[in-house]
Amino acid sequence: MERASFDGLLNALADAFAGEGRPGGNAAATALRAARDRPYRAMPGTSEPTDLLTAACTHADAFPVAASVMSCAPLISWTNWEGEGLEAGVSSNLHTAELVGPDGHIEAEGVRVGLLVSDKATDYPVSRHSGEETYLVISGTAEWTVDGGPYRAHPPGTLIHHPAWAPHGRRTLAEPFLGAWRWSGDLDLSSFSVDG
Ligand SMILES: [Fe+2]
Repeated sequence: MERASFDGLLNALADAFAGEGRPGGNAAATALRAARDRPYRAMPGTSEPTDLLTAACTHADAFPVAASVMSCAPLISWTNWEGEGLEAGVSSNLHTAELVGPDGHIEAEGVRVGLLVSDKATDYPVSRHSGEETYLVISGTAEWTVDGGPYRAHPPGTLIHHPAWAPHGRRTLAEPFLGAWRWSGDLDLSSFSVDG
């Protein structure tokens, strides 16, 4: 039953990223749809942001995908995101889960698709990485900067694109943030670094 819910989440994310109109979004949608026929892998989790996830998913303004996340939450394993240059106090407020991809609950090549939940009042500093990335905001209006532009608020339902190696940052305000992310291109997670 939970697997059916997990597949429902993958389907909702496929629809969202297919609507992006970019090759990377189309590749993510294809991988997400194919994942429904592939085995689920249990993954070790190192963090359990249960209360944070519940708060984000039950927020009055959350995008409908939030209900899909909640319904399969027991199948999602989280880890703190500890990229190069991130301070421990920030990493402890960033929880990520790869759903589909080389290291995901469902194995796939060529893309990574996952979720990230972060606490309120968390400044994810400007950073960059090799993967071309798009975020779907599921819950929480945070402020984002891309390519040196000003910080701008993006509400649930927004898609935010980060070209490969483009500097970008996100700071949450009074509410937690939940988003789905997808990477295409060079999927090397160790390419991540905070801008000096
Ligand atoms: Fe990113």
